[in-house]
Amino acid sequence: MAETTKSANHVYFFDTTLRDGEQSPGCSMTTQEKLTMAHALEDLGVDIVEAGFAMASEGDFAAIATITQAIHKPRIASLARAKKEDIEMAARALQFADRARIHVFLASSDLHLEYKLKISRAEALDLTGESVRLARSLVDDVEFSPEDATRSERDFLVEMVRIAIEAGATTINMPDTVGYTTPEEYGQMFREVRERVPAIDAEGIILSSHCHDDLGLAVANSLAAIQNGARQVECTINGIGERAGNAALEEIAAALYVRGDRFGVKNSLNLNQLYPTSQVLGQLITFRPSPNKAIVGDNAFAHESGIHQHGMLANPLCYEIMTPALVGVAHNHLVLGKHSGRAALRNRFEQLGYTLTRDELQHTYYRFVALADRKKNIYDYDLVGILPDQIREKRREPVSELD
Ligand code: KIV
Ligand code: ZN
Repeated sequence: MAETTKSANHVYFFDTTLRDGEQSPGCSMTTQEKLTMAHALEDLGVDIVEAGFAMASEGDFAAIATITQAIHKPRIASLARAKKEDIEMAARALQFADRARIHVFLASSDLHLEYKLKISRAEALDLTGESVRLARSLVDDVEFSPEDATRSERDFLVEMVRIAIEAGATTINMPDTVGYTTPEEYGQMFREVRERVPAIDAEGIILSSHCHDDLGLAVANSLAAIQNGARQVECTINGIGERAGNAALEEIAAALYVRGDRFGVKNSLNLNQLYPTSQVLGQLITFRPSPNKAIVGDNAFAHESGIHQHGMLANPLCYEIMTPALVGVAHNHLVLGKHSGRAALRNRFEQLGYTLTRDELQHTYYRFVALADRKKNIYDYDLVGILPDQIREKRREPVSELD
């Protein structure tokens, strides 16, 4: 049965951190670690968790089976090639899931058919029908992905999609497997396939995007797909995944929220779990997001320049398009460095318990700039160190009285 219980403008979040994400260098996880991550994804409110590729290894099989027994809110999916043994293995791994999905994929580009699979287009179409039919005989929710869709001849892609739907696919995912497409082109592909396969709308088939970031366009492409009818988006936490990664879930989610005026769609995510979920993943794999990574990087809500800090103190809207709290970051961060101004310095001293007169601030500010020229990171104890003695004493007095 297709996912038709939600409204037509609901976008389903399909998280593939545990499958496409996990299959990239430095990201492999044990079953226990995958389970920890799956709990975080459930708290985040994703609709579908792709827990692995059952046929790939005993570890993947075990992780999928374990997750199906512990995680109950999201639907659990396993990837499978268009092969009997893969599909049956996926069904076995998913047998205890409350709601299961088999995700069958088969290449649709001539490049992949000729060089990788060494089969003809006609054989690929036969395999599509047979494999989706088999999967549908085992579970009621089947996703079909024509791999390398964006480099596939359009008439052939349309034919493959049509056959997959006739055979019982409930979701059609059109991956940009090698991160080659552009937003305009990807959006157009969704529009065209939807127009040329009337069963998509008539039968409530969900169209899905799946983008890789080789050109740094994965999130933009995913958003373009949504604007052109995709109602499922496949993505990963922190954008981990093959090569340059997959579309980052947190970026898509934040864009849909902050620019709701452009998208007008809904989803089930708890946005304040975005940062905590990113942190969980960072602890399980070998690397964290870069500091300047949107939404979840250490500097995503940090402000160093004086002009920005002054604006932030006057009204955070001057330099922030969302509050840190929206995505679960405890507070924004005015980083003190050589670009900072007097307003931020005064603010930090006040937080530290020192109220400076205008002259005191001026004097301390010169010392601060000289220090910041020499030192990359300025810590609170450095600031206290540059205060004139008599001011430091003033702060100490009430503290010692309390003692
Ligand atoms: O990128 C891709 O094409 C995939 C498919 C298996 C969906 O990950
Ligand atoms: Zn992929």
